[in-house]
Amino acid sequence: MASSKQLIGMIRSHAAGDDERFLAIAEHIANDARNAGHHRMAEEIGSLVGSLKEEVGERRSATRPILIAAPRGELASLVRASYPETRLADVVVAEDVGTRLRRIVREHRERGILADRGLHPRRKLLLSGPPGTGKSMTAAAIAGELGLPLFTLLLDGVITKFMGETAAKLRIVFDAMTGTRGVYFFDEVDALATRRGAENDIGEARRMLNSFLQFLDEDSSGSLILAATNHQELLDRAIFRRFDATIRYGLPEADHVRRILVQRLPGFDLAPFDWTAVAQAASDLSQADIVAAADDAARDAVLENAGTLDPVLLLRALRERTQPDR
Ligand SMILES: Nc1ncnc2c1ncn2[C@@H]1O[C@H](COP(=O)(O)OP(=O)(O)OP(=O)(O)O)[C@@H](O)[C@H]1O
Ligand SMILES: [Mg+2]
Repeated sequence: MASSKQLIGMIRSHAAGDDERFLAIAEHIANDARNAGHHRMAEEIGSLVGSLKEEVGERRSATRPILIAAPRGELASLVRASYPETRLADVVVAEDVGTRLRRIVREHRERGILADRGLHPRRKLLLSGPPGTGKSMTAAAIAGELGLPLFTLLLDGVITKFMGETAAKLRIVFDAMTGTRGVYFFDEVDALATRRGAENDIGEARRMLNSFLQFLDEDSSGSLILAATNHQELLDRAIFRRFDATIRYGLPEADHVRRILVQRLPGFDLAPFDWTAVAQAASDLSQADIVAAADDAARDAVLENAGTLDPVLLLRALRERTQPDR
């Protein structure tokens, strides 16, 4: 029989319109029923899941936006376009960070109301923090929430060894922001905006920084500009003033570890978990490491333990993700 956790998970995913999670839990219930010898029930749920999956697939291909914004010409070598389905609720962050992100999304949803009073939504956000804490995921979630395309800057395409070319390429990207409203994501922005006077301050780096600053200043498009860095300390001080908000990401607190695992392991019974021990095993791990450990543990549960997630498996997976040099 389905556990109460599974039922709650199904109701939640149904309420959130998350078909994939809903069906994943249903599949788990079918597996559990099969393992418990309830073959008829397993078969019935299994075939329902099969036909629902087809239906969901058809519905999705019918509603997926056409890539009208697919970059053409030189722009195609400078940005990669995608239409993320990520939501802010998927990003597990400190409460104040979550609140700030939701306010910014709201400003864009209700930008008409702001415009009536001569106001504009905040559009330029700098995300900083250690690897694997959700910066890229946030860019995807903001695009997902607003139904906008996400254009990720391809640094290799933009930064060239030929003097002056980088500025010309950046201009193409900034021009695109006016032409196509979207979320423009400058990942590893330190590559473009290292401090002036830093060791590697050759002429071209300075020129690149100056043109980036100038384009940020001049930009009056309706697009969002998100930049991310692991090395805020390397950024030129002049960059911060160009952004409407700087948002700091950090390694997860104990409660976040639990939320990420619960979110990532639907359909597994997590009641027997000692969350204090889990948080301890996960200390020093990033959100991305925890997600990866959850997936490891789920695979182990299915292959080694007849689909039951023994806490020992998760603790092992978390420990295996701990890197010795951290
Ligand atoms: N805050 C989070 N909440 C939930 N899942 C997360 C979070 N952060 C990371 N993850 C998981 O880890 C994956 C990688 O994270 P992401 O790419 O957003 O990290 P990042 O901060 O951009 O890291 P980097 O600085 O290395 O680019 C995500 O796709 C997601 O599955
Ligand atoms: Mg990233």
